Amino acid sequence: MPRTRDILERPARRPDDFHGILTGAPCMHELFRLMERVARSNASVLIRGETGTGKELVARALHDLSNRASGPFRAINCATLTPELLASELFGHVRGAFTGAVRDRKGLFALADQGTIFLDEVAELPLDLQARLLRVLQEQTFVPVGGTDSVKVDVRLLSATHRSLRDEVERGRFREDLMYRIRVVPLYLPRLSERRDDVALLAWHFIEQLSRKGPRPIRGIERAAMDALLSYAWPGNIRELRNVIEYATVVGEGDILQLADLTPELRGEPPPGHHDDHRGDSERKRILQALLEAGGNRSEAAKLLGISRTTLWRRLNEQP
Ligand SMILES: Nc1ncnc2c1ncn2[C@@H]1O[C@H](COP(=O)(O)OP(=O)(O)OP(=O)(O)O)[C@@H](O)[C@H]1O
Ligand SMILES: [Mg+2]
Repeated sequence: MPRTRDILERPARRPDDFHGILTGAPCMHELFRLMERVARSNASVLIRGETGTGKELVARALHDLSNRASGPFRAINCATLTPELLASELFGHVRGAFTGAVRDRKGLFALADQGTIFLDEVAELPLDLQARLLRVLQEQTFVPVGGTDSVKVDVRLLSATHRSLRDEVERGRFREDLMYRIRVVPLYLPRLSERRDDVALLAWHFIEQLSRKGPRPIRGIERAAMDALLSYAWPGNIRELRNVIEYATVVGEGDILQLADLTPELRGEPPPGHHDDHRGDSERKRILQALLEAGGNRSEAAKLLGISRTTLWRRLNEQP
């Protein structure tokens, strides 16, 4: 048991809540002010930020703050579908457009009419769909897959990416004209490591949230555990922080969250930047360690790291 003086109690300060985006960081408040102004317009917004930084929360907040709030909000992840399915998801299809298309089906652009559509991982959009998206943005019309008549829509476009679109344009993977269309207003969402105060604030928030629902009410954090949280690099950002706290509340016992309850990478990894020359190595070690922790279960391991199952597999195979 840790000694009393090594235990931190919940601080009085609570994070501010802006449409579900919790924070105490001044840079985030600047972003909120900008969001309030941008939301009122119809401008296309590109949200840039690493995985788990809250891009989808920002997109939803922009919709809720806009005069389209009473209209639909539809989100789609461009990285998870085949090009054919994605085309049909976005633009719909007519009966007989392809095998299995037994009836007409509305796509997201039709369903989001008078509202907002959010294209997550927009950099992964295949080039032919980029051309079609450009047409929707220019003319506010689209043609369903296999159809001939164009359909008129009034949709506001928000998109997000963790990549630099400029780099994608240079590599010939993204249309330059589309890039300008979709990022009329670029918003940058800082990494968790760039808003250090938020680590403690959000850790306490998640502890409280999980304590309320879960079997283990926690009233304090061992100082060493808080130090580990504060010195960690958080590559999976807020999603990873939440997962780490959830893991700790599940594996540990008692009402004090201890260093021993944290995942191995939090307990053992050297401070951020220390391993820069061997980034690949330590990434691989992190993944292998997580797999070990999760008894070889990839979904569980990915959850521990705050990344998707496919990202986990890709990263593991990318390494030398
Ligand atoms: N500031 C925040 N306050 C509270 N919860 C947050 C915050 N930021 C992110 N989250 C939570 O973290 C998780 C990840 O957020 P979100 O899905 O918006 O991130 P993302 O940037 O879209 O990630 P990805 O690139 O992996 O799609 C969600 O469960 C979200 O509710
Ligand atoms: Mg997302």
